[in-house]
Amino acid sequence: MSGLFITLEGPEGAGKSTNREYLAELLMQAGIEVVLTREPGGTPLAERIRELLLAPDSEVMAVDTELLLMFAARAQHLAGVIRPALARGAVVLCDRFTDATYAYQGGGRGVAYERIAILEQFVQGDLRPDLTLVFDLPVEVGLARAAARGKLDRFEQEQQSFFEAVRQTYLARAAQAPERYRVLDAAQPLSQVQADLAALCPTLLGRVRG
Ligand code: TMP
Repeated sequence: MSGLFITLEGPEGAGKSTNREYLAELLMQAGIEVVLTREPGGTPLAERIRELLLAPDSEVMAVDTELLLMFAARAQHLAGVIRPALARGAVVLCDRFTDATYAYQGGGRGVAYERIAILEQFVQGDLRPDLTLVFDLPVEVGLARAAARGKLDRFEQEQQSFFEAVRQTYLARAAQAPERYRVLDAAQPLSQVQADLAALCPTLLGRVRG
């Protein structure tokens, strides 16, 4: 038996968490086991790595340190949560995964995509998400929403150009593999985004049961 691995991606402030809850509710109503999780994090140890990654610090974190910590957290999360859940046949709804590494460390920080691909293969083997939902939003809108939430983490303190590169990387990856990605317009009212998600559900249910 193997479940379905769905990841949610997009900038800060795109409504990923709210929409993840909504999608989980729809799937659970259909009697499916849903595992809600996130990256970096998802297990106690991976959440401790997340704290290291997000806390602003006077010591500048080297780009490779950031990249390796992302994959260290991911290795733990795969072993402790994602692979066991998929093996039971559950649907895993994961807030961010390796597309975020391509977008933030690749697009944002300038790490070559080939280097990220090597770590992706090393840590994940052949496991890739079955579906990636990209919640797309103009950068200014996302940053204003994040700022309204309060104290900014180490990533949220980046410049607008960093987030433009993140956004363009997500869109380029989605355009390259349209069968795996679904781009949703997160600037729409929430009710419309949720209607788009509800419209996706029959296909998802067919894949879980198929
Ligand atoms: P969150 O607050 O949306 O959960 O995101 C945590 C931050 O970590 C967010 O700014 C994106 C960043 N991130 C990366 O830079 N690379 C990654 O691989 C992941 C999973 C997240």
